[in-house]
Amino acid sequence: MKYFITGGSGLLGQRLATVARDNDELVLVHNSNPTGDTVKCDITDESQVHDSVVEENPDVIIHCAAMTHVDLCEDEVDKAYSINGDGTGYLAKAAEEVGAKIIYVSTDFVFDGCRGYYKEDDPVNPLGIYAKSKYDGEVQLQKYSSNWAIARVSVLYGWHERANFTNWVVKELRSKREINIVTDQINSPTLADNAGEAIFEIARRDKNGVFHTAGNDAINRFDFTLKIAEAFDLNDGLINPISSENFVQKAPRPRDSSLNVSKVEKELGMKMETCSESLKRMADSE
Ligand SMILES: NC(=O)c1ccc[n+]([C@@H]2O[C@H](COP(=O)([O-])OP(=O)(O)OC[C@H]3O[C@@H](n4cnc5c(N)ncnc54)[C@H](OP(=O)(O)O)[C@@H]3O)[C@@H](O)[C@H]2O)c1
Repeated sequence: MKYFITGGSGLLGQRLATVARDNDELVLVHNSNPTGDTVKCDITDESQVHDSVVEENPDVIIHCAAMTHVDLCEDEVDKAYSINGDGTGYLAKAAEEVGAKIIYVSTDFVFDGCRGYYKEDDPVNPLGIYAKSKYDGEVQLQKYSSNWAIARVSVLYGWHERANFTNWVVKELRSKREINIVTDQINSPTLADNAGEAIFEIARRDKNGVFHTAGNDAINRFDFTLKIAEAFDLNDGLINPISSENFVQKAPRPRDSSLNVSKVEKELGMKMETCSESLKRMADSE
């Protein structure tokens, strides 16, 4: 199968390449950070998107590209909607034109976090600009494509040259620096490799609809950080618990946006890993 993977220079795009099968043909797409043999396509440029997709003629588009800096989206609202919303619409139109399936990677932040352990058909209520613009992407996807799937993930992590939460924690603790971590934000941290495996399974089984391809826990950020320290044999005494009230973040965060992954396990016949399992896998692969 031929895959056109946007966000090919980012964390998930790079990890998708490591879990793909030998006979998968991948076109990895970058915007401003060429990485290996990625090809350039700015998803905010509709004609570039159209021409790239028509030229590559993939069977499946896996759309990982996004403006992912949650707080920056509050300052650059138009840019957030242009990349996360309209860019997704352009890709969905191009996918439809070439008869490709499109799998859009979305976020636990589409939920307001008042309840937690969300299922795929629970009502959404995105809080900040990042969340609203990602949800706009979900809406545009369904408007322009007849063969779509949505894969929602949460606090993605894994080995990548740019910082994500887990490799940042490892770096800080190895440098013996203290870190302050909130105790009152709950998610389902997701190893990008494990999400990637689920996303490829959606493609292989030709599934449509929404899937929570996330880690198999509901865990607060402080406890997750303790597990990182344990998996990498680092000093957890450097990790200080704090409350969100004492930690200024520009964008609102859901209190508990953990995701229920039972649909993925049932329909894709695969296991989503707990963070202990995923952190061990990450540590073992260093
Ligand atoms: N990270 C998380 O904790 C998290 C949580 C929930 C959901 N998600 C979702 O998961 C997906 C993957 O996230 P990630 O952490 O792997 O992302 P990431 O590492 O931050 O990478 C973002 C990617 O988007 C690309 N991109 C940005 N603007 C673009 C544009 N105008 N045209 C084309 N490409 C553009 C970047 O390309 P260049 O670098 O080449 O410019 C990069 O490859 C995203 O859809 C995100 O919303 C992430």
